[in-house]
Amino acid sequence: MPSAPARRVPGRLLAPEPGWTTTADVVVVGSGIAGLTAALRLRNEVDKVLVVTKDVLAAGSTQWAQGGIAAALGPGDTPHEHEVDTLVAGAGACDRAAVEVLVTEGPDAVRELIALGTNFDHDPNGELSLTREGGHHRDRIAHAGGDATGAEIQRALIAAIEQAPEIEVVEHALAVDLLLAEDGGVAGLTLHVMGEGQRDGVGAVLCRAVVLASGGLGQVFEQTTNPAVSTGDGMAVALRAGAVLRDLEFVQFHPTVMYLGSESRGQQPLISEAVRGEGAFLVDWDGERFMQGVHELADLAPRDVVAKAIMRRMLDTDHPHMWLDARHLGAEFWERRFPTILATCRSHGVDPVTDLIPVAPACHYASGGVRTDLWGRSNVPGLYATGEVACSGVHGANRLASNSLLEGLVFSRRIATVLPAELRPLLWPVTDPRTPGLVPGVVRRELQEVMTSHVGVLRNADGLADAGGLLDKLATAGAEAIDQESWETTNLVTISLALADAATLREETRGSHWREDFPERDDVGFAGHFDVVMSDGTSTIAFVPEPASDGAP
Ligand code: SIN
Repeated sequence: MPSAPARRVPGRLLAPEPGWTTTADVVVVGSGIAGLTAALRLRNEVDKVLVVTKDVLAAGSTQWAQGGIAAALGPGDTPHEHEVDTLVAGAGACDRAAVEVLVTEGPDAVRELIALGTNFDHDPNGELSLTREGGHHRDRIAHAGGDATGAEIQRALIAAIEQAPEIEVVEHALAVDLLLAEDGGVAGLTLHVMGEGQRDGVGAVLCRAVVLASGGLGQVFEQTTNPAVSTGDGMAVALRAGAVLRDLEFVQFHPTVMYLGSESRGQQPLISEAVRGEGAFLVDWDGERFMQGVHELADLAPRDVVAKAIMRRMLDTDHPHMWLDARHLGAEFWERRFPTILATCRSHGVDPVTDLIPVAPACHYASGGVRTDLWGRSNVPGLYATGEVACSGVHGANRLASNSLLEGLVFSRRIATVLPAELRPLLWPVTDPRTPGLVPGVVRRELQEVMTSHVGVLRNADGLADAGGLLDKLATAGAEAIDQESWETTNLVTISLALADAATLREETRGSHWREDFPERDDVGFAGHFDVVMSDGTSTIAFVPEPASDGAP
């Protein structure tokens, strides 16, 4: 097994001393499906729940989810079949017990979301309308507003939060770092709030538990489907507090992200896999359908297979993107089923009713994150994680389409089941022994460039070594200004280094991790996980063997 050097990064974020203090029983960090579900379920179980979110309530990734939420709800479908598809997509790296929880509790969790007021689409007979996406052998994706599933779920959850005045919400609040008690567990959290009055600037929330639901890390790369808030903050906060991060190398690149030109940066428009689920197909610049023969499911193969096929074709033919052909779906179908995508494409000068859509893979989802058990507990007492920030084990090396909203929903319900009985007393934080530091915000662009070139969809040892070297330098470049840009960039560097190291050490190709120098999956050498831990700014990585999990369940 190869090894990686220990890395030095800031042990905590350099920040002013807290200028205000408040208390809560539970602080939920993040306001997507995972965070709001946890808050709503906990509100009657503990005295005070505080939700903090970096922007406004609806600014996270949930809002942007198009395809839908997967659950065995259709006639003839079973949790077992959903489990098999999930394990196969996960390429041997899933935690089978976690997948079983996901698929068996999923249908009830979705029904509960409906009871809460989420308006999913129905067919003319009044039955829930279910579609198919990559890697699924059944129609099992519930959707809303055609392609606005996340927005509808977010709307329903915010409406429920507005009816729950006992939940306090603080918007524009960046989680800076955890405050730790004598036993190494949670004593609170420091926040930076762009507010007014008493809650402005850096403050401390003393609390008995923290639920991280702060989403992913897409802004590590130049192009991503993630919104601007996805800067890996929750993962970095957890790592600095002693939590284990697992499976960071498994970053999923969505195959069909609208290509807006090589200079386009940040959040890019997603063309949902559901468009292929409804019959669209990929073609190259000669009009040839290239997914047939690559996989039995052709254009609906698991996401990693399609992303790789597109990249291969791009490299072989020296083109910056491929094309999605959905013209035959027709104007009426497009308007009814995919109104959001249609409007987005048209706003970029492409009419999918008459034109091919230019598409290329871009960063979409972090399958890894804060390692949790089946109840969302991290290894840090009082710290829980759910949704994209977490690594519950359900996604393995490649998340199955539309399993992410479901994961947030199911595991937040589970956290709310166990957390109240496990609440710690309110403990006084110890003087923080960690060495503070900050990376300047101006290096973000350089970081994204190197991550995209060398730690992106296609990886090799030389590129990864270059990336590790540069990131090492960036991690020790001191910042002059203490501001949100520097805090976020420090988090991005911290997570990028860990991600690059895990990608370097995994000398095989598995799921969304694609090594051109090690093109085969290697179950002898690499069945298992890379876990990253940090102590006062020194992060180390270790391999934890575990048998591959994609045999017959
Ligand atoms: C999509 O609509 O293609 C994305 C769904 C997902 O990421 O699960």
